[in-house]
Amino acid sequence: MTDLNSFIVRLPKAELHLHIEGSLEPELMFALAARNGVPIPYASVDEVRSAYAFSNLQDFLDIYYAGASVLVTEADFHDLAMAYFDRAAADGVVHAEIMFDPQTHTDRGIAFDTVIRGLLSAMAEAEATHGMTSALIMSFLRHLSEDAAFETLAMAEPWLDRIAAVGLDSSEVGHPPSKFAQVFAAARAKGLKLVAHAGEEGPPEYVYQALDLLNVDRIDHGNRALEDAALVERLAREGMTLTVCPLSNLKLCVVGDLADHPIDRMLAAGLKATVNSDDPAYFGGYVADNYRAVAAARGLSREDIATLARNSFTGSFLPPDAVAGHLAAIEGHVGMG
Ligand code: ADE
Ligand code: ZN
Repeated sequence: MTDLNSFIVRLPKAELHLHIEGSLEPELMFALAARNGVPIPYASVDEVRSAYAFSNLQDFLDIYYAGASVLVTEADFHDLAMAYFDRAAADGVVHAEIMFDPQTHTDRGIAFDTVIRGLLSAMAEAEATHGMTSALIMSFLRHLSEDAAFETLAMAEPWLDRIAAVGLDSSEVGHPPSKFAQVFAAARAKGLKLVAHAGEEGPPEYVYQALDLLNVDRIDHGNRALEDAALVERLAREGMTLTVCPLSNLKLCVVGDLADHPIDRMLAAGLKATVNSDDPAYFGGYVADNYRAVAAARGLSREDIATLARNSFTGSFLPPDAVAGHLAAIEGHVGMG
């Protein structure tokens, strides 16, 4: 391992933007397809990987929703999440706030309880085996209606003490945050934190809406906020966390080249940026791969990398004493060089 690579891997990190369905590696997709007798339109793992060439978000989503069809039983959701936790632990992730998309499963007849029980049992196992803490973010699919999001919130009612936040994902353009203002208000009234994808493909206006109409605690992605200087200034002033995903941005053509990635411009503008993997099985890398790739492409210093890791904890939904403990661990690591 190079010095920088080992610095990145050993640095304690939180992952704040990870779709658990997007951590389904082709090998597990094949194993689950066989286990459940679900047909998949690929002959081999290599064929799956070569299908992962996307020119925009929708190209990816079509393949991602099709892949999720192999997830049927509680054990499937457990195995999916455990594979992610094992991989993330190897990358030095000590806390993960993972999104799941209930509607992707309930709409094909899988019970909400099946999904969440499998995820929760893996979260308990990750804590026992890796000492890794985690939290769940229940994301609404924005290409569906707000009524459908309300139905999902109702299904989650018995589990609300196990869910940290609600989120908003899927096809961004044409489905502005304003469409979900009522259901986000209802979720907030139930004590849930709020996050939303905004400014990945959508315009700065969608970031304003996420702030003003949804009252989000974090913005997922937020890249296109950079097109609006007043918005950048506001996000910086408010200390709003952005969960940035460099390899995702590259694969979904949000940036043409990682050499043009704005991560260092975000930090220079005072934005509280973090580095995350989004859908690592589809975009070619887990958290440490994302740190490594963007650090190399933009010449980030160790101090920049440590700032990104600090932001991942101060932007998390962990209680203040846990945040303080992780920040102290980062300082210990930085001091060791
Ligand atoms: N669902 C999974 N990954 C996503 C992304 N990057 N943007 C929107 N929805 C998603
Ligand atoms: Zn995402």
